[in-house]
Amino acid sequence: MNNLFEIAEACLHHPNIDEKLALTHYAKFLFDTEQLDFKSNNPVLTIERVKFPEKPILQAPRLMPKRKLTSPEGMIAFFHAIAHVEFVAIYLAWDLLYRFRGLPVQFYQDWLCVADEEAQHFELIRQHLRNYNIGYGDLPAHGGLWDHAVETANDLLARLALVPRCMEARGLDVTPAIITKFAALRDDAGVAILNRILNDEVKHVERGSYWFKIVCSQKGLESETQYQALISQYYRGGKPKGPFNRAMRKIAGFSDAELDWLEAG
Ligand SMILES: [Fe+2]
Ligand SMILES: [Fe+2]
Repeated sequence: MNNLFEIAEACLHHPNIDEKLALTHYAKFLFDTEQLDFKSNNPVLTIERVKFPEKPILQAPRLMPKRKLTSPEGMIAFFHAIAHVEFVAIYLAWDLLYRFRGLPVQFYQDWLCVADEEAQHFELIRQHLRNYNIGYGDLPAHGGLWDHAVETANDLLARLALVPRCMEARGLDVTPAIITKFAALRDDAGVAILNRILNDEVKHVERGSYWFKIVCSQKGLESETQYQALISQYYRGGKPKGPFNRAMRKIAGFSDAELDWLEAG
């Protein structure tokens, strides 16, 4: 198998975790060695066909226990939650490139690189959890992370606004303070992993901003007003809550006008 869309289909429709990780890295290897075929000839299956593993059991966010990082249970719950975020992020990257066809080849290369980095993030956290004798799936996980993907399955601009430019961008706001907490607890391994993830996530959000603007201009739409319209339409509660990490979000392609609008509450 050396076709990007066939590999994407396999990653999205077979729930085996280790196979998915191996295939994701294999696709990146094929790309790096110029063996990857980008021809889009297989039909796109509906998003309802995407399969997740049986474990973790997914729960409504309000049922998730509150985490205090200072207790071992809290630390484990935190890293398990992050493992789940990274696991779903692998699906989000694959689904973005699988579902939306006919874009420049660079689009597919960008999101393949993101999928590969999300798989690396997941593996780093899974390994970290093993040090606490916990496997991914041993605890329940947040059931809402795939919702925005389903809601935006037929709308590329909405997908880019809601996934990289909203869900992933949230990580830029909250991760620096979490890193500070882990540094105070002298968890050097945790700090190193979170720093690595934060560093990569800025690039993922930046790719989201980049493609959002490209697709807007292709359609003759003004990207700032379009961003506001799509967030207002799809985000429950109308708008994400701050505080926002303006400096990192600007590196990730947010404009002052977009940030001012978000901060206006
Ligand atoms: Fe990630
Ligand atoms: Fe990401």
